[in-house]
Amino acid sequence: MTSRSHIRFILNDRDITLDSVGASDTLLDFLRIERRLTGTKEGCAEGDCGACTVLVGRLQEGSLHYEPVNACIRLLASLDACHVVSVEHLSGPDGRLHPVQQAMVEHHGSQCGFCTPGFVMSLYALWMGNPDPTHAEIETAIQGNLCRCTGYEPIIRAAKAATALGSPAEDALTRERDAMTARLLGLQDGQRVMVEKGGSRCILPASVDDLADVLLEVPGATMVAGATDVGLWVTKFLRDISPVVFLGHLDGLRRLEVTGTAIEIGAGVSYTGSREAMAGEYPHLAEFWDRIAGWQIRNMGTIGGNVANGSPIGDTPPVLIALGATITLRRGGERRTLPIEDFFIAYGKQDRLEGEFLESISVPRAKADALHAAYKISKRRDEDISSVCAAFNITVANGVVTEARIAFGGMAATPKRAAQAEAALVGSAWSEASVLAAAAQLGEDFTPLSDWRASSDYRLQVAKNLFRRFWLEQQGGDAPVRLSA
Ligand code: FES
Ligand code: FES
Repeated sequence: MTSRSHIRFILNDRDITLDSVGASDTLLDFLRIERRLTGTKEGCAEGDCGACTVLVGRLQEGSLHYEPVNACIRLLASLDACHVVSVEHLSGPDGRLHPVQQAMVEHHGSQCGFCTPGFVMSLYALWMGNPDPTHAEIETAIQGNLCRCTGYEPIIRAAKAATALGSPAEDALTRERDAMTARLLGLQDGQRVMVEKGGSRCILPASVDDLADVLLEVPGATMVAGATDVGLWVTKFLRDISPVVFLGHLDGLRRLEVTGTAIEIGAGVSYTGSREAMAGEYPHLAEFWDRIAGWQIRNMGTIGGNVANGSPIGDTPPVLIALGATITLRRGGERRTLPIEDFFIAYGKQDRLEGEFLESISVPRAKADALHAAYKISKRRDEDISSVCAAFNITVANGVVTEARIAFGGMAATPKRAAQAEAALVGSAWSEASVLAAAAQLGEDFTPLSDWRASSDYRLQVAKNLFRRFWLEQQGGDAPVRLSA
């Protein structure tokens, strides 16, 4: 395998070549400190506020896609063969404001202005793909942007007004799409990239097969896909993550296919990239998917990363466990497939060998007679980590529960099935009494921790209440907001 020792990307309209990049270098520091492009702001440095939003365009199977991402936790080396668009690129050569910026001015969408470039970039991405958005679509697009002083209504009005001020067809990114595609294609030379700075090493494998080789050559390397978790190891814990192996650029891990029996999701498919297929098959997941972080993080974070990380409060593992998903792990040329719940052994410990990586996730297609729900309980509706997550998948035949897969996050050291509750339910009549009896078993299944997010008692009570809410919703009525067990 041939390799090169520099990364290349395009920043606004400039070609960038860097032969000294460390594993912990972020795009935000590069923009602000090295390039003095200070329009992109730093607020939280953890992907929560959106002040650092930029667009990243990259080729996927030869087609160019732009997405808003958080530059604060986007690791610089991962940008090889990408187009980075910062807020400085939006105004015209004569200094005229972009329609989205002009709309923000006209509708008083900015006061102190610190959040404004980030909002502009999120709204720019929305306008490019959907110039006439609904109120709900605007809210979803700015879920990942925090404004402390203006309030959101003027910003939402600006988002609606931008369409009258200009058309995406006339935007520079649209006009230059073919030329940019050609430039990015020219940067894809099929080589492994190995770049370092002061002994801090970054490796971008050339393909999935090359990734398998790299992980055998460099066992113990930090694997990074979207960096939505690892990015915080860098910015908050100042951890040395070298050597890093990047996976997010590999088309071979970013394929999603719906077959006759399953949704096959490559480990590098993002939350955004999996939403349509998952919500198409399981409509209850549309809202759940939109409760995962904000738009920028959903574009960066991957389903594989959410699973491989093994967090007890990851959003997708309880859902995937309830749906009966399996995962395929690969080490060198060898693969093994296991039920996803068996992957989570203990806190911080997963069933993954050294040199092994998660290659794909297989989610069974929906059964016609199954009842589903997924709930996320968190302190804030948007952009928050769950206190408790619950997913239900119940099959009822002739009024009797024949199968139950129920999984929780936030209730144990790993995402976990509620085995006692499931056992109590299977074989019982599908009735409120059975559901309450099964919910009572949750105290046998779980001894949740107390932390600053929620107390143990609260978690157990909420879990029981979600069981009952599931029952009530299945009866066709609106569940009351507050329930007691
Ligand atoms: Fe807050 Fe990046 S600085 S999301
Ligand atoms: Fe001040 Fe939004 S205008 S934070």
